[in-house]
Amino acid sequence: MKHRTQVGIVGAGPAGLLLSHLLHKQGIESVVLECRTREQIEGTIRAGVLEQGTVDLLTRVGLGERLAREGFAHDGILLRFHGRTRRVDFPSQTGGKRVTVYPQHEVLRDLVKARLADGADLRFGVNAVSLRGVDGERPAIRYRHDGEDCEVSCDFVAGCDGTHGVCRASIPSGIATPLERTYPFAWFGVLCEAPPSSPELIYCLHERGFALVSTRSPTVQRMYLQVDPEERACDWSDDRIWSEFRTRLATDDGWAPKEGPIFHKVVVGMRSFVLEPMQHGRLFLAGDSAHVVPPTGAKGLNLAASDAYYLGGALAAFYRGGGSSALERYSERALARVWKAQRFSMWMTSMLHRFPGGDRFQYRAQVAELDYVTSSKAAATALAENYVGLPMN
Ligand code: FAD
Ligand code: PHB
Repeated sequence: MKHRTQVGIVGAGPAGLLLSHLLHKQGIESVVLECRTREQIEGTIRAGVLEQGTVDLLTRVGLGERLAREGFAHDGILLRFHGRTRRVDFPSQTGGKRVTVYPQHEVLRDLVKARLADGADLRFGVNAVSLRGVDGERPAIRYRHDGEDCEVSCDFVAGCDGTHGVCRASIPSGIATPLERTYPFAWFGVLCEAPPSSPELIYCLHERGFALVSTRSPTVQRMYLQVDPEERACDWSDDRIWSEFRTRLATDDGWAPKEGPIFHKVVVGMRSFVLEPMQHGRLFLAGDSAHVVPPTGAKGLNLAASDAYYLGGALAAFYRGGGSSALERYSERALARVWKAQRFSMWMTSMLHRFPGGDRFQYRAQVAELDYVTSSKAAATALAENYVGLPMN
């Protein structure tokens, strides 16, 4: 089966679906090819924190209704270290900006619903995806769908297929350079049925390692522990998990997390990765296919959104007759923002995690840094403006 579209998009994650939606708003047609099912993408638990700019973008393009109703606005975060807790306020340091806790799979549900309502061509459960001729004028994507070999020819291909996709590998190695840093630890994430332990997220440094208290809803909480990358989720009983959270999160005034049944456990590796440039010929990468950040800065989903915004704008300029200069500058423009988010994520990760072999000196220096960040207005402002998100310019 052969068909044609203007922009062929591989991957129905936040980057691919938002790009497809933004293109539609500009009258540009796309086809989205996704290897998983709709139920799978809408049911996978991942990110939770949306920057102010991501919320504004989603709202501007008609995706803000449920987000405004069901998302939770957070005006600050709590940094806990050495038994004490300090708050960094966002609106007062950033001209009124804040973040919103709204799970990634809810963003995806809103996007899929809106795309289908607009009559979009979303193909779930495809396999054997491969790219053809991205360095020429007429690229194509081959794939299998419902047992049939298919090919969609397009003007451009958007590689939005995440860390393990096929699009990144279609850029010849001499053309793009992968830059990478791995961390000697992972995050063990759990979801539990309990009321919120805290009105705001708690990022905690402890001598036994990092802990994070996040939330999903008034009855479901999301929490993370720093663990060894080789750790297996099945080796952690509920008792062991709660005991570790109680130890790491303990404060001088006897604070303890609200406990409840744990119904989801996952170990996530941590790395920083960037492919430079994010484009080759008529192939443009967006989101995790081009870059990965450690989750400590809560930036991955937000970078997927800003890439979609830049790429959508450059494609719209092309189809309006503005030529290809905006497309040529896409990677440079996206990477300027990506690198700042990389820097912030790396900084938050180093400040809040224990490194293997890290001695008392390292720990005392980390405590001093947290003390400084939460007592100097200049340092707190720097944290706040990066956490709520740098402008998409
Ligand atoms: P993805 O969401 O990975 O989507 C890619 C899609 O492409 C997938 O649906 C995949 O099935 C599909 N695909 C892959 N290969 C193929 C193929 N060959 N053919 C067709 N389809 C394919 N980010 C934040 O901003 N804030 C947070 O708080 C945060 N917390 C996180 C917590 C965890 C535990 C994890 C794991 C991540 C977190 N992130 C967070 C990161 C965030 O989830 C990702 O950065 C985001 O999903 C990237 O979106 P994407 O669209 O680029 O890629
Ligand atoms: C989450 O709620 O999943 C979450 C929150 C903050 C982070 C990372 C993940 O930095």
